[in-house]
Amino acid sequence: MTARGEFSSKFGFILAASGSAVGLGNIWGFPTQAASNGGAAFLLVYLVLAFCLAYPALMAELIIGRHAKSNAVNALRLISNNRFSYYIGSLTGFIGIITASLILSFYALVAGWMVCYFLAPLAELAGFQSVADWLTEFGLYRNIVFILVFMLLTVAIISGGVKDGIEKWSTRLMPALLGLLFLLIAYVMTLDGAMEGVKAYLWPDFSRAVDLKLIVSAMGQAFFSLSLGVGTMLIYGSYISQKENLSYLGRMVTFVDIGIAVMAGMLILPAMYVAQHNGVEIFDAAGRLISEDTLIFAVLPALFDTMGVTGIFISAAFFILMSIAALTSSISMLEVPVAYAVENHAIDRKRAAQVIGLLIALISVTIAFNFNTLFGLTISATTRFAQPLLGLMLCVFAGWIWQRNKVLAEIKAGYPKVEQSLFWKIWPSYVRYVCPVAILTVMAQVVFS
Ligand code: PHE
Repeated sequence: MTARGEFSSKFGFILAASGSAVGLGNIWGFPTQAASNGGAAFLLVYLVLAFCLAYPALMAELIIGRHAKSNAVNALRLISNNRFSYYIGSLTGFIGIITASLILSFYALVAGWMVCYFLAPLAELAGFQSVADWLTEFGLYRNIVFILVFMLLTVAIISGGVKDGIEKWSTRLMPALLGLLFLLIAYVMTLDGAMEGVKAYLWPDFSRAVDLKLIVSAMGQAFFSLSLGVGTMLIYGSYISQKENLSYLGRMVTFVDIGIAVMAGMLILPAMYVAQHNGVEIFDAAGRLISEDTLIFAVLPALFDTMGVTGIFISAAFFILMSIAALTSSISMLEVPVAYAVENHAIDRKRAAQVIGLLIALISVTIAFNFNTLFGLTISATTRFAQPLLGLMLCVFAGWIWQRNKVLAEIKAGYPKVEQSLFWKIWPSYVRYVCPVAILTVMAQVVFS
C-alpha cells in the first residue's frame, strides 16, 4: 500500500476544506437562489438550515472520515455493525461517488463560463473584440471547449495528490477572493439602485409565506455549499491528522463557507438592482428573474462596465478568482471517485484521474448538448435530493450504527476535553434524531405534495 497523504497543518486543512466548500455554490448558486426565492426570506431559512442541519452533518463526515482513513465506501463498511448496515453503507458510498461525479459534470460547465469571462476582458484589451464576443455569448462550441479546458485543469491537479495538489492550490486563493469581494461590495454600495438590493436581501417580506420550494432549495443549497453527502468532506477528514480538534475545524469551515455566501449575496443582489437601474433587464413582467443560471453573468459585467477601464481589470481579476475557487471545489469532487479507484482497486492515481476525468467530461458535454433538459435536472437531482438524503444516511451512521464510545474516542484524539464541551452535549443526539427527522420531513413533503 502506498502511504496516505495527510494535510501538513491545521491551517492547510481549513484552507483545503474551505477551498472545497467555497466555490460556485457561494457566488453563483447562493445569490441566484436568494434572488429568485424572495431575498431575505431565503437568507433566513438558509442560515438556519446551514447551521442546524448542514454543520452537524459535516461533523459526522469529518469524524467518520478521520476514523476510517479511507473513502466513504470503506469508511461506512468499517463502522457498520452487521451485514445489513454493511450493504447500506456500501450503497451510500457508491451513490455518493456517482453524485459527486454528476455534480462535477454540471459544475465544469458553469466553471467553464467563469474561465470565458476571465479571458473575455483580456481579449478585449488585446483588440480581439470578436473573440471576446464569442467568449461571452452562450454557445454550444464555447461551452464544450471550456468544459474540456476546465476538466483538464482539474485532472492535472488531482494527479498530484493531497499535499502538492490540493493543499498548495487552496492556500493561495481564499485571501485574494475575500479581499476582492469586500472591495466590490464597498464599490457597489456607492451606486444608484444598490440600496433597493440591500433591502430585498436583508429585509424579510413577511407577507410572503415561506413555501416548501424555498425550504427545499435552501436545504439543497446548504448541503451543496458545504460539499456534503457525497464523501468529499469524509475524504478530506481522512487526511486530517489525529492531533487536530475536529469540532473546531468543522466550525471554521462552516463559518468561512457561509460567511462568503452571505457576502456574495451582499454583492450580487445590490448589483442586480444597479444593473436594472442602468437598463439591464433582470426581471420579467411577472417579477421573475429572466435567466437564473446566467444571472451573475449579466449582472456583474454590467457592474464592471460602470467602472470604465478599471472595470476591465477588475472583471478579469474577479473571474480568475472565481475560476480558481471553482477549481478548488472541482478537485474535491474528482477526488471522490479517484480515491475509491486508488484505494479499493489499486489503480494508479494519475491513471484513475485521467480515465474518470474523461468520463465525467463526456457526461458534461452531453449536458451541454441538451442544456435545456439536462442542466436544471442534474442540478436538482444531485443537490436538492441526493445530497440531503446522503447527508441523512451519514447522520444515521454516525448517530445509530457507529457505537457512541467509539465516536467519542475518535473526537477525543485531538480534543481530550470534548466530553465537557457543548458540542458533545448536543451533537450526538442531534445527529441521531433531529437531523434525520428534519431532512426526512422536508423530503416527504416534496414527495407527497
Ligand atoms: N461546495 C462546492 C461549492 O459551493 C460544491 C461541491 C459540492 C464541492 C459537492 C464538492 C462536493 O461550490
